[in-house]
Amino acid sequence: MFYLDHAASSPLRPEAWEAMAPFREEIYGNPSGGHAVSRRAKNALEDARDLAAALLNADPLEIVFTGGGTEADNLAVKGSAFAAETPGGIVTAPVEHDAVLQSARFCGEAGRRLSLVKVDRDGLIDPDEVASHVASRTGVVSIMMGNNETGVRQPVEETVRAAKASNPSVSFHTDAVQGYVSERVDVDALGVDMLSLAAHKFGGPKGVGLLYVRSGTPLQPLIHGGGQELGRRSGTHNVMAAVGMAAAMAALEEDRDRFRARTAAERDSFESTLSALVPGVVFTAAEAPRMVQTSHVRIPGVLNEVLLVRLDAAGAAASAASACQSGAATVSHVLEAMGMTPAEARECLRFSFGWSTPAGEGAAAARLVAREVEALR
Ligand SMILES: Cc1ncc(COP(=O)(O)O)c(C=O)c1O
Repeated sequence: MFYLDHAASSPLRPEAWEAMAPFREEIYGNPSGGHAVSRRAKNALEDARDLAAALLNADPLEIVFTGGGTEADNLAVKGSAFAAETPGGIVTAPVEHDAVLQSARFCGEAGRRLSLVKVDRDGLIDPDEVASHVASRTGVVSIMMGNNETGVRQPVEETVRAAKASNPSVSFHTDAVQGYVSERVDVDALGVDMLSLAAHKFGGPKGVGLLYVRSGTPLQPLIHGGGQELGRRSGTHNVMAAVGMAAAMAALEEDRDRFRARTAAERDSFESTLSALVPGVVFTAAEAPRMVQTSHVRIPGVLNEVLLVRLDAAGAAASAASACQSGAATVSHVLEAMGMTPAEARECLRFSFGWSTPAGEGAAAARLVAREVEALR
C-alpha cells in the first residue's frame, strides 16, 4: 500500500497516542469544574496550551482550541468580519481553502465588502496587489501559508508587511494547516495576527485544531455558551484531542529536519522517476516556492478520476483535489483561478508525502503510477 495522501490526513504519531492514553481511564473530568477530578483535566488542557503556544512563540492566552482547521478558519474570517470594533471588509485570494473562501463569501453575502486578489499561473499572490485592496474599511486579510492542492508557499511575511503599510489596524490571518507541516512557525517572524492549524495533517487526532489570536485582535466568537476559551469558543473542551495535538506538534518539531529531508527526497525522486517514465507529465508550479511534501501533477490525456480508481485498486492512495471535494464532479477552484481549463484540471492529481512515508516510496509509487498511465493510454 502506498499512502500518498498525507495532505488529506496523516496517521497518528505514536507520541500523540501515548499522550492520549491516560484519557482512557484516568482523566475524565470536565476541565471547567472546580474539584480535583476536573483539575486533572484542566491541568492537562493548560499544559497542552502552554506547549502549543511555546512551539509557535505565542502566549498561552493567544491559543484558542477549535474543532479543526475549518472551524479555526471560520472563526478567523467571520470572527473578524463581525467584530464590533472592525469595519469588517475582507481581502483574500481565490486559491484559499474553502474554509476561508466560503466564510469570506458568507460575510460578503451578509453585507461585508469582499475583495478577491488575482493570482498568477502558479497560484501565487502579489503582496503589493493584496495591499492595494486593503482600505480603511478592511477588517481582515486572509492569505494561506501553503496551498493544500498545489503545495505552493505564499509570501506571507511580505504580504503582512505590505497590508499593514496600507492599514496598520487590519488583522492578518494565515491558514497554516498545510504550511505548518513542512515549516516551523514563529508567529512573530511571520507577523500574523491569526493562524490556523489542524492536528490531523501532522500526526495528531482529527477534529481538533487551534487558532492563534494575537493579543488585542478584535474577534467575535462563532460559538456562544459557557464562555470557555476566554469567551472565544464556548463548549466543553475535547481535552484528550488537545493533548494529542500538542504532543504531535512537539513530535513534529523534534522530527523537523528528518521530515524535511525525507519528504523532499521522496517527493523529488517521485517527480524525477515519473518524468522519466511518463511522457508529457507536467508538475504544477515546479519553479515556484513549494512545500516539500506535495507534488501536483498533470498527465495529459488521462482523466484523474479514472487514474485514481486504478491506483486505488493497485494499492495507492492519492487524490484529485482537497479531500472534502473528492467525489464531487466539480473542477478545483484553485486550478481554475490559476488559469487552467476545466479539461486540464481534470488531468491533475495530488500526491502528498508525510512523517510515516518509508524511504524509497517516492520512486516505487512513481513506477506504479507510470504503469497505470501506460495501461490507460
Ligand atoms: C489548507 C487547509 N485549510 C483548512 C483545512 C480544513 O481543516 P480540517 O480538515 O481540520 O477541518 C484543510 C484540510 O483539508 C486544509 O488543507
